[in-house]
This record gives sequence, structure tokens and C-alpha cells, in this order.
Amino acid sequence: MEHLAIIMDGNGRWAKARNKPRISGHRAGAEALDRVMHYCREAGIRYLTVYAFSTENWKRSKAEVSGLMKLLSNYMRSKEKELVSNGVRFRVVGRKADLSTKIQREIAALEEHTRGGDFTLAVALSYGGRAEIVDAANEWRKTNPGKPLTEEDFRSFLYAPDIPDPDLIVRTSGELRTSNFLLWESAYSEYYFTDVLWPDFDRAEFDKALASYSKRERRMGGRLK
Ligand code: IPE
Ligand code: IPE
Ligand code: MG
Repeated sequence: MEHLAIIMDGNGRWAKARNKPRISGHRAGAEALDRVMHYCREAGIRYLTVYAFSTENWKRSKAEVSGLMKLLSNYMRSKEKELVSNGVRFRVVGRKADLSTKIQREIAALEEHTRGGDFTLAVALSYGGRAEIVDAANEWRKTNPGKPLTEEDFRSFLYAPDIPDPDLIVRTSGELRTSNFLLWESAYSEYYFTDVLWPDFDRAEFDKALASYSKRERRMGGRLK
């Protein structure tokens, strides 16, 4: 597997079960991400995309949104050295312009400083699959409006056209939906759903997801015989 994508869901329920504020669930979620990144590298996976904040998540309370933005900012600052020394290339996919100018600057700096990494961590922030398709269509319209559009042309206008489509998409916390994640890119992705809440996602859960994936037969519409 080259590319694993994860819908990191269940932080709020994890915190609620412990009588803690939702933000402490998000903090535990960031720790789970560090663990899983490590497992991915050991498994030889080269790209990890994680859904951290959707275009719909702006509807949450001001306190939760600002807590998440602060967490992101702290994460980027405190992890920079580690990401660089571990060869992790940090990227953000999503409507970056929706984020504060301070966070946009921090993202741009971290993307630049980690450019040489051979493992890609793509964080989906203010990301929506429909928004991505609409943004791509608008970008295309600016450049080649007269020319008939192919799938390949269209892909080149997505947020990260150089990242291969995800092989497997994992969603934690028992929800059986995609919530607007990677609509274009997931056309032939495999899915794995688990009831485990994201902060509890551990090595055993990671191994289960990979074992499930390894049993799938990916035909991509074709037939061998
Ligand atoms: C996922 O956890 C993280 C974000 C959407 C930011 P949630 O915050 O959605 O957790 P639940 O679904 O309420 O448990
Ligand atoms: C999806 O989770 C988005 C992220 C994990 C960042 P949500 O918790 O926002 O999705 P819904 O509301 O359950 O569909
Ligand atoms: Mg949720």
C-alpha cells in the first residue's frame, strides 16, 4: 500500500466518556496521529492523508474551532524539528484561504522546511470533497476554458495532484459515511470502518486495518480472466 487515508473521528466522544472537554479529545487525537505515522513508516507506506477539519466543521462552536486552530498551530511549532529529522514532508490540502493569515503563514513555512521529506503527511484542513471539485473546476475555467476536459486535466487542478489516490480509507468511531472526504480521489479506494474512537486507535487496530486491506481483490473494473 502506497497511500493510507484516515477520517480521524470520535475525539469528542472519547473526551465525553472521560468527562473531559472536547479539546482534550482532540489533543489525544493528535497523539494518535503521531503513533500512526510511525506505524505507516514501518509498514512502508509513503503517503498518509488525515482528515483533521472539514469545510462543515466551521459550524461548530467558536470555542471548539479556536481550540482546534490553536492545537494545530502548537502542533506545527512543536513538531517541526521532529518532522524534519524524520524526513516527513508536511502538506495541507483544503481551502487554505479560510484559515487565519497567521496559520496560513505557519503552514507555508512548515511546508517549505519539510519539502525534502520522503514520507508525506497530508493534513486535510478546511477540506471538503465538493469544495475541492468546485475549486478545481474554477481553476480550470481560468486556464483552458475552450478545451475539452479530460480526467487527467481535471486531476491536475485538485489540491495535491501529485499524491496518488488513496489505496485504503479508514474511518474510526463507528460512523459509516465519508463526510465529504476525498470524493474524486476515492473512486477505487477500499474502505475500512472500525468502532474504535480515534484517540484509542493503536498498533493492533492499525494491523487489523492492513490485514483487512490485504485480503481485498482490487479489480478496478477489469477482470483478469
Ligand atoms: C473528529 O472528532 C475531529 C474533528 C472533526 C475535528 P469529532 O470532534 O468529530 O468527535 P465526535 O464525532 O464528536 O466524537
Ligand atoms: C468528519 O468528521 C471530519 C473529520 C474527521 C475532520 P465529522 O465528525 O465532522 O463528521 P460527521 O458530522 O459525523 O459526518
Ligand atoms: Mg465526529
